[in-house]
Amino acid sequence: MKTAVYPGSFDPVTYGHLDIISRAAKLFDKVIVLVSFNPAKPNCFFPLEQRMDFVQRALVELKNADNIEVDSSDGLLVDYFKKREADVIIKGLRAMSDFEAEFQMALVNKDLFYKAETIFLAADVTGTFLSSSMVKQIAAFGGDVSAFVPHTIINDVTSKLKIKNEG
Ligand code: PNS
Repeated sequence: MKTAVYPGSFDPVTYGHLDIISRAAKLFDKVIVLVSFNPAKPNCFFPLEQRMDFVQRALVELKNADNIEVDSSDGLLVDYFKKREADVIIKGLRAMSDFEAEFQMALVNKDLFYKAETIFLAADVTGTFLSSSMVKQIAAFGGDVSAFVPHTIINDVTSKLKIKNEG
């Protein structure tokens, strides 16, 4: 039984994330989508509970999500990895600009715990330029994000962003 942990801020989850989740779920027996704390982004727009709820509801769009679990952590990724006896960390790689930071994180995690292997899945063509920050910015100005945000959560995502921008 091989378990993969897919960590991220998911602020909010996008179709780019969903693509990685669905592909990882075909490669591993179990995938844990770990809504995590990124010290470089201490002020997420959506609270933790809502980010988890968004991921859970986005999974409805996948054909088979039986082996996917959603969890959260505010500590070190490797501590969670050890606790769950996971086998790999999954990361999505978009443009080359992601590479340096992701490579560094993979090395740090491996150094902290030698069993923490990271596997990168290349983003699909749409996901290459897609980010949660981009989605928040477009939605805040009333732009159409329906191609980027799962339709099961899009109303909740956009309404909160628009209210904030108007207020
Ligand atoms: O979606 P993000 O914000 O790019 O995800 C980054 C995340 C949350 C995966 C990363 O910040 C993380 O692993 N946070 C947990 C704390 C940790 O373990 N830090 C050491 C890894 S370098």
